[in-house]
Amino acid sequence: MLRCDIITIFPDFFREVFEYGIIRRARAAGLVQLESHDLRRWSTDKHHSVDDRPFGGGEGMVLKPEPIFAAVKELTGAATRRDFAPSTRVVLLSPQGRVFSQQLAQEFAQQASHLVLICGRYEGIDERVADALVTDEISIGDYVLSGGEPAAVVVVDALIRLLPGAVGNESSTANESFAAGLLDCPQYTRPPEFLGLKVPEVLLHGNHAEIARWRREAALKKTERYRPDLLK
Ligand code: ADE
Repeated sequence: MLRCDIITIFPDFFREVFEYGIIRRARAAGLVQLESHDLRRWSTDKHHSVDDRPFGGGEGMVLKPEPIFAAVKELTGAATRRDFAPSTRVVLLSPQGRVFSQQLAQEFAQQASHLVLICGRYEGIDERVADALVTDEISIGDYVLSGGEPAAVVVVDALIRLLPGAVGNESSTANESFAAGLLDCPQYTRPPEFLGLKVPEVLLHGNHAEIARWRREAALKKTERYRPDLLK
């Protein structure tokens, strides 16, 4: 069982997103335990503040280190990165991180038994969190979100569907986009003709060798067009 704890100032953000499809089934089957936690629970002052003004001046507010360190300590039992179990990963979602990938999702799915996701907010988060607490600082792409919450959903979704037993047919996660270094080939279903648009003839007959060749070529064409970087 994989345990996922999400630390956020918007715990309700996650109330419904994990209640659909594969994630819902994985939770029901006991493959994963998901929980979101309100960072304010670990603030110690009477205003429940979790942020403060930046040293050196500048716009906006910075998330304070103390509530985050306290939260991670309670959730992992360890005060800093040095003392985490090897299968514990503490992930900070931020645009400054390493870019998330299928490979990283696979690494987490295979190696982690406890994932703590920290959602950044405001103008930033005190760097001592990244220095002493976080095992992986992760960005989901080169754009800026208003907070790490949508990124946490992306990471959790990509990871859960790779857990053994989460997707009905194991080979469907092995054959899909990126696992083979190519984008997926196009898929069609009935009807064979719709608004004058036809399904490629080869797919309508049962010649499996020809279908496999067509799919490989179609995947290559799509990859050349949209993601030539994957072919290098
Ligand atoms: N927080 C803000 N932007 C982000 C991004 N691109 N990835 C992860 N967390 C973020």
